Amino acid sequence: MTLTIDHVDKSYSGRAGHAVLAVRDLTLTVADGDLVALLGSSGCGKTSTLRMIAGFEDVSRGGISLAGRRIETLPPARRRVAMAFEGYALYPPLTIAENIGFGLADGGRGIGRAEAAKRVREVADMLEIGPILQRRPNSLSGGQQQRASLARALARDADLHLLDEPMGQLEPQLRAVLRGRVKAALKARGMTAVLVTHDQTEANAMADKIAIMEGGVLQQYGTPNELRDRPANLYVATFLGEPPMNALDGVVEAGGLRLDDISDRLVALPGVRLPPPGARIALGVRPHRLQLNPAAGADVAFQGNVVSNQWLGDQAHVVVELGRRIVVAVSHVRVPVRAGTAVSVGFAAADAHLFDAEGGGALAHGRDAAY
Ligand SMILES: Nc1ncnc2c1ncn2[C@@H]1O[C@H](COP(=O)(O)OP(=O)(O)O)[C@@H](O)[C@H]1O
Ligand SMILES: [Mg+2]
Repeated sequence: MTLTIDHVDKSYSGRAGHAVLAVRDLTLTVADGDLVALLGSSGCGKTSTLRMIAGFEDVSRGGISLAGRRIETLPPARRRVAMAFEGYALYPPLTIAENIGFGLADGGRGIGRAEAAKRVREVADMLEIGPILQRRPNSLSGGQQQRASLARALARDADLHLLDEPMGQLEPQLRAVLRGRVKAALKARGMTAVLVTHDQTEANAMADKIAIMEGGVLQQYGTPNELRDRPANLYVATFLGEPPMNALDGVVEAGGLRLDDISDRLVALPGVRLPPPGARIALGVRPHRLQLNPAAGADVAFQGNVVSNQWLGDQAHVVVELGRRIVVAVSHVRVPVRAGTAVSVGFAAADAHLFDAEGGGALAHGRDAAY
């Protein structure tokens, strides 16, 4: 069901009476049937947001609606929300099967006992915890407890499912498999869900839309493609992608950019709408979009010197000095360039991003025309 968060703040009273503003003026709509990831570094306000939606924390300001009902003052049990908690919150005296099925059979919507048992079995099999259904939480690993907690949330009928870092304790291979299964299960049942994660791979793999938060503030909300092609600011641009986007400072002049400390040449970016002359900008290009010794197809090329070339098993990271600036290029094949030798570095105008050097807001993207 559709979730609307409307100008919500969350402040906690911290030490010495200082208020901690954990979430600031958050406005966000999750469409019915969508899976949205709240993505950001530790402490950016993800869990606080989820707990306000579920009702375990009060909102300090603003409103929350679910399926057209205002819910921010309702007790958790009346919000029709299911949540998998960051700390699992399993009941120690109950078996895993009892934890997952807790309240299912005689819950408000009343599915029968047999149907509840079947659902517990199905969700446990999906999450590979079928064999431990008769065990108790204390005898299990963190990864098993985490999957039991996720299973309990997914087994429920609810208007909204909230998943707080639901796979952080899993082995990488199992995590990759379960991402796909959990997404498919949510989609098959038409469920609306908010996933909290600090893992951009998880967000990209699972989410229809991603909301990036930093310092309690929503930075951008869009599809994974939109965030990659048209980051709203330099924070989002450098947060997404590894290694981070290269950023070079410069100034706009008539017909092109003059980049600081690289060369006196005017850099033309065909097809990119430049800000007015005089504007101080940062030019961003992602490492895997930089071409080394480009044959053709690069709109812009600079001469540089190779600082290092490291092969990481499946990709090369090549560090290049351009004038007095450093950029990183990534190649998925080995590149025969040696430290201390000259190299040319190029890129297509479509891969360029321009940001305001002061505030960091995006001014233009090479792929704007495609949107
Ligand atoms: N109960 C609380 N009391 C005081 N401060 C809190 C409380 N819970 C969270 N915070 C603070 O609010 C900020 C956001 O925390 P949280 O929502 O848990 O972030 P995230 O889940 O993104 O890591 C952090 O600075 C955290 O220290
Ligand atoms: Mg958290």
